[in-house]
Amino acid sequence: MSNELPIKRIAIIGGTGDQGKGLALRWALAGFDIIVGSRAAERADDAAKEMTEALARSGAAQAAINGAHNTEAAANASIVVLTVPFAAQIATLKEIRDKLQPGAVLIDVTVPLEPAVGGKPSRVLGVWAGSAAEQCKEQVPETVQVVSAFHNVGAEALADLSHEVECDVIVCGDKKDAKEKVRPLVAAIPGCRYVDGGVLANSRTVEAVTALLIGINIRYKAHSGIRITGLN
Ligand SMILES: NC(=O)c1ccc[n+]([C@@H]2O[C@H](COP(=O)([O-])OP(=O)(O)OC[C@H]3O[C@@H](n4cnc5c(N)ncnc54)[C@H](OP(=O)(O)O)[C@@H]3O)[C@@H](O)[C@H]2O)c1
Repeated sequence: MSNELPIKRIAIIGGTGDQGKGLALRWALAGFDIIVGSRAAERADDAAKEMTEALARSGAAQAAINGAHNTEAAANASIVVLTVPFAAQIATLKEIRDKLQPGAVLIDVTVPLEPAVGGKPSRVLGVWAGSAAEQCKEQVPETVQVVSAFHNVGAEALADLSHEVECDVIVCGDKKDAKEKVRPLVAAIPGCRYVDGGVLANSRTVEAVTALLIGINIRYKAHSGIRITGLN
């Protein structure tokens, strides 16, 4: 059962990619126990080894990063993060959904960008469910609590451990307690701030902002983020 799993363990499905690795590095540095998931366990092991070595080179204390097949990763953490391309989201969820623990929090980071159909990364696709996060929710058992977060945080900024990540993380979800479980993960990334984005359907707006940021990054040759002002 999920409450028997270590609360500091995070599984990252598609954790061999840029976004998954960036998040894994930051969370491992903060002391979380990471399972990097992949469709191929060997690729996951290689990515875990590469990140462990990178953290050791940066002088970090010994990191707990291990690799596993996506299904094994999903079964062994109460916080599961999905970082796969939008085109792979449904197929990946179909593969892992029966492995997710009842009560697990599933953090969807997927952005429905146009490259999924051969288009531009600065454009967001219309999704019948409303957003990638709502599509994610449709694919998993009701006992799994879907939250959307980390869409506006770029992989390059995450990977650069010498700098803080200047970005607010807007967290959307229908259950307040599930969103609260994401708060320590945001706080673990220097420079990031948790902002409650309201219901899961608000992820439609947050996901679209990522496409806007990608366009800004292209124009300014930058790694931009967002800040919400005026909050207490
Ligand atoms: N990169 C960013 O800066 C950024 C920022 C915010 C949000 N995001 C979102 O986060 C997600 C991941 O982004 P990314 O840049 O990390 O993507 P990515 O590197 O292209 O892919 C991530 C991982 O997904 C798995 N994958 C790729 N194609 C797949 C397929 N057809 N079926 C199943 N798994 C597949 C691969 O892992 P294996 O081959 O090991 O299985 C890959 O390493 C995307 O939805 C993206 O929009 C990215």
